[in-house]
Parts: sequence; structure tokens; C-alpha cells
Amino acid sequence: MTSTNHSKKLRLGVNIDHVATIRNARGIRHPDPVRAAGLAVRAGADGITAHLREDRRHIADEDIASLTDVLAVPLNLEVAATDEMLEIALRHKPHACCIVPEKRQELTTEGGLDAAGQHNRLKHYVDELGRAGIRVSLFIDPEKTQLDAARALGAPVTELHTGKYCDLVGEARQEELERIREASRYGASLGLEMHAGHGLSFETVAPIAQIPELAELNIGHFLIGEAIFHGLEVSIGEMRRLMDEARSPDEEKA
Ligand code: PXP
Repeated sequence: MTSTNHSKKLRLGVNIDHVATIRNARGIRHPDPVRAAGLAVRAGADGITAHLREDRRHIADEDIASLTDVLAVPLNLEVAATDEMLEIALRHKPHACCIVPEKRQELTTEGGLDAAGQHNRLKHYVDELGRAGIRVSLFIDPEKTQLDAARALGAPVTELHTGKYCDLVGEARQEELERIREASRYGASLGLEMHAGHGLSFETVAPIAQIPELAELNIGHFLIGEAIFHGLEVSIGEMRRLMDEARSPDEEKA
């Protein structure tokens, strides 16, 4: 492995949305995403991520209330830029809010936010959340124009969409990885705290974790799926191990 400056610990945010997806399939209380959040923290998560969608297909309003009550680690609330979500975020005041694009029919967040094309619309939400002391993050594709736009909006954090990198194979994946590397470098040079996430798995995480500018990865679907086979704590523990290994200097591993 080529080692650059991997000294800073890479934070793991565990996204618990799909525990709620399973719960909602039966319309009962089990399995409880808040209980999953507690287990995730025990297993090495540094934070919990939850996406309150407009259609409430997984996480519900009560989950956000319970999470803000009981969590001892930062909550990263993912929301669309709407007045309803702004009101909810201001009421619960999570540690962070990641603004994501949201389309009703999509299965998951398909692409990044158009921070460049929607400056005027987004500015209001970034400002209001920031004024309330919430750390605002913008979920964007790894593109210079989007990073410039995020900087211009005054959001302190951006999260790079890794979905395309995970979906591609071979050379095309390597090219997308290079775009994420370049975007991480460029974003950090603008003074942005750089995060990444979407679609990451045991197979895809290491090259992303090796990018020295990244401070946090947010991972959900793969971990919840893997938990069916090995349990949540084992799955998160293994992800934590792979991330730490990717960050350790070569000499520590010798
Ligand atoms: N980061 C953001 C901004 C997301 O919207 C999601 C999915 O909700 C994730 C990370 C986690 O993606 P996945 O569930 O594919 O790991």
C-alpha cells in the first residue's frame, strides 16, 4: 500500500435507515433503529446517520426525537432542502445536517446535490442551519464546480458521493476513484471538511479510506445487509478494522 499522511483517524458514521425499512415492512416497533444505533456505537461507530425522507419510507419523526434524546455520539441528520425539514432540524438540533437531493420515486439518493445550479435556493437552508449551530454538509458529486459552489454557500463540510465508484468495475472504477481523490484534495484546499459515502462495502472501502483528506465515511445499506449474516456488531467491527488498516502507516503493519 502506498502510504501518505494517514495519521488522523477516519470517523465512521453508521447509517441506520434500513433497520427502519425492515421495521416498517411490518408496521410494528421491531427492529428498533435506535437500539441499532446503540449497538453501532458499541461496535465502533463514531456517529449515527439517519435520513428523514419526505415520504418517511424508513426513518420516522419519532426516531429522530429518540435519537437526539439518547445518543451519546453525534447525529448526522440527512434531509432534503425543504421548509418542513428545516423546521424539524431546527427543532431537534442534531450535531450535523447533510443536505441531500431527494426524488420521490428513487430507490436511494441517486446523485449529488446541484450546489452550483441551486445556489439561491440552498443558501437560505445552509444559513438557517448554520445559525442554529448545526454543522451543515452538502452531498455532492466529486466535481470542482460543485466544491466551489459548496464553498460559496458557506457550508463547512461536503460529503462526496461514492455511489458511482462502487457501481463501476475495472478501469472505470479506478477513474472514478481518481476523481474522488482529486475532489478530496481540492475540497480540503478550499478549507472544506471532506466526508464521503454511499454504496461502500468491505470490497470498496479501503481505497476510499486511504484518501488522507477524508475525515468521515457514512455507511449504511451494506452494513445492515451484512448484519443478517454476521450480526451488526461483527459487521461494523470489520468495517472499522478495514478503515483503520487503510489509514495505518505501513510501518505499523510490518
Ligand atoms: N451518505 C449519504 C449522504 C446518503 O444519502 C446515504 C444513503 O442514505 C449514505 C451516505 C449511505 O449510503 P449506503 O446506505 O449506500 O451506505
